[in-house]
Amino acid sequence: MVPVTEPSGPHPAAPSRTLVRRPRRLRQSPALRRLVAETVLGVDDLVAPIFVADGLEAPRPIGALPGVLQHTLGSLVAEVRHLVDLGVPGILLFGLPRPEEKDGRGSAAFRADGIVQRALTAVRDAVGDSVVVMADCCLDEFTDHGHCGVLDPRTGDVDNDATVALYDLVAVSQAAAGADVVAPSGMMDGQVASLRAALDGAGYERTAILAYAAKYATALYGPFREAVDVTIRDGGDRRTYQQDVANRREALLEVGLDVAEGADMVMVKPALISLDVIADVRRTFDVPVAAYHVSGEYAMVRAAAERGWIDGQAVALEQITAIKRAGADMVATYFAAELAEALGG
Ligand code: PBG
Repeated sequence: MVPVTEPSGPHPAAPSRTLVRRPRRLRQSPALRRLVAETVLGVDDLVAPIFVADGLEAPRPIGALPGVLQHTLGSLVAEVRHLVDLGVPGILLFGLPRPEEKDGRGSAAFRADGIVQRALTAVRDAVGDSVVVMADCCLDEFTDHGHCGVLDPRTGDVDNDATVALYDLVAVSQAAAGADVVAPSGMMDGQVASLRAALDGAGYERTAILAYAAKYATALYGPFREAVDVTIRDGGDRRTYQQDVANRREALLEVGLDVAEGADMVMVKPALISLDVIADVRRTFDVPVAAYHVSGEYAMVRAAAERGWIDGQAVALEQITAIKRAGADMVATYFAAELAEALGG
């Protein structure tokens, strides 16, 4: 038997005793880690996307988004009160019209008594200004073909300028109903400048614009389409107006245009496959940057957690923290209520 002896010298691979940089020193206790944390995720960073549907008798679960509901006006108000109690500072509202109201122009999106407009007023009446009420400004939930704008009969593609003219009507009707922020998500060129002029012209100079400035065409929106009952006609997609996932520099062009057109805040979407873009935008512009942890990103975490493969809440915290670390000032996430609770808001 070989006797066990103290090694006579340092292990050849051991760090020298004169090593000065020892990053592990600052990881030794939870308090020390908290003290040196570069990124602190808090309730104030969260925005809760929320769905309201016209003509529902009771709130309806969304299969691909476990824990997320299509709300009635009544359950919407209750949920917003809950979010306010948790300290969540912002909601992002999406509306579903009655199916029979859909048409080629999405006109139910800009009616004074549309579902989004009624919901905005109900929320405003219930919670005042204790939460920032942001309204998605788009047409896809309201068009019978499922595109984010009106179609040009000659090309079959979305007609940019005709669509922007309708977004103006949507934004003004949302501001009139009580939205603090309108969030154009259709990726039409010139939409921010047009909305700003329309809002100002109607006396809504105080209504802010959160521009979905860098929004990519991605399969990660799949569960959302179920949430809002949208199917794009003839198996179509949004690649002629949303960005190609392959492009990074183009995002700075898009954001630069939106900032120049008057965007108060800009959104990068989706979040996890765009961390480089979030970092670029943060470095290049001084407006607040939002990121949207989208439906597919949420659904993947929930699905794996349901199978017991991952700890869903821990992964959610890591993902949303990483999005903030990349440079986002706020994150829209379907985990907002759950994380607000976990963060002790
Ligand atoms: C379009 C819109 C979409 C999302 C937000 N606004 C869908 C799309 O562009 O097809 C997706 C959000 C998500 O996936 O969570 N109005």
